[in-house]
Amino acid sequence: MEGAHPSTRKLLQWYKSHARELPWRAHPEPYATWLSEVILQQTRIDTGTAYWHRFMEAFPTVQDLASASSEEVMALWKGLGYYSRARNLHAAAQFIVHNSSGKLPQDVEGWKALPGVGPYTAAAISSICFGEAVPVIDGNVQRVLARLFDIPDPVDRKLGKAAIECAAEDLVDPGQPGISNQAWMELGALVCKPRNPNCDHCPLTGDCLARSRGTVLERPVKQPKKRPKEVTVIFDVHVQKNDGSPWSWWIERRPEKGIWGGLEAFPLTMTDGHSNPKEEADLWGPVEHILTHRRMNAWFRFIHGPSDPGHDAPENQGQWAPVMDGSRTWPRLIDKVLNDLQRRAVEN
Ligand code: ADE
Repeated sequence: MEGAHPSTRKLLQWYKSHARELPWRAHPEPYATWLSEVILQQTRIDTGTAYWHRFMEAFPTVQDLASASSEEVMALWKGLGYYSRARNLHAAAQFIVHNSSGKLPQDVEGWKALPGVGPYTAAAISSICFGEAVPVIDGNVQRVLARLFDIPDPVDRKLGKAAIECAAEDLVDPGQPGISNQAWMELGALVCKPRNPNCDHCPLTGDCLARSRGTVLERPVKQPKKRPKEVTVIFDVHVQKNDGSPWSWWIERRPEKGIWGGLEAFPLTMTDGHSNPKEEADLWGPVEHILTHRRMNAWFRFIHGPSDPGHDAPENQGQWAPVMDGSRTWPRLIDKVLNDLQRRAVEN
């Protein structure tokens, strides 16, 4: 703790008795830490921990992950969303095995060269596992520092970002960067929360500029969000039923790049803007669906077999398959719609 900023010292005292026991923290090993950081990027800690255990059990080493099929990886990721994380994780594992003899990188630059590993993840792994004295800045840290130093500039623009980075660099404890980084994140997760900060129990309440100026709830400042882009998508849902067997549905695997990459889906066409398709029998919709940067109106065109849609686009690896057995790895939107249809069928 020697050489650490006075606020970091207080924080580390607090962290000793308040750190959550997370399974990858006891023995910070790079593969396990990498996996935890990728999972936690957009996932809550309790959900993330359950998935981390499943992944570590299925793929205990980077070699196991690299030699898995993309279907296996996607299936295990099912439910976590943001599937590009899984695709990148898999690609990075294969890169490590094929190009670095299975040896994981040992510093920020090495990690950043891997697909899906940005400055945040690279800094987290390198500080936690290799003691590199670099700050980790996630949403929690951003909020804590914007309050501690009462930063008035939007933290998602140049000036505010630079202010946060500057502060974060000063606050890393060079003797234990991994622990101090996790302590700053922990303070944001447990005490300095977005809407209900628990200032009365904060170890830094006496240091906090926003607290003394009454601006805690106004920090961090963010620039107003852009309107999400509107898109319309039409799914062609081919269904057929052969005597005595369950309904089967024509399902394709989406190309790796682009929306829902690598997931399964009904064949689809997508157009910009909000357009209502011409009225047709067996056209169902619209279903509104919000994605990170898009506002989607989805329509479903039901086409009863026995056509063979695969002839049009054999590269899409289509197949006739059941959909109600829970084995499909596809967008949440489709699950939502099928559940809704099933409920209506039962009710009628
Ligand atoms: N969120 C993501 N990674 C974390 C970590 N290592 N500690 C605390 N919160 C986190």
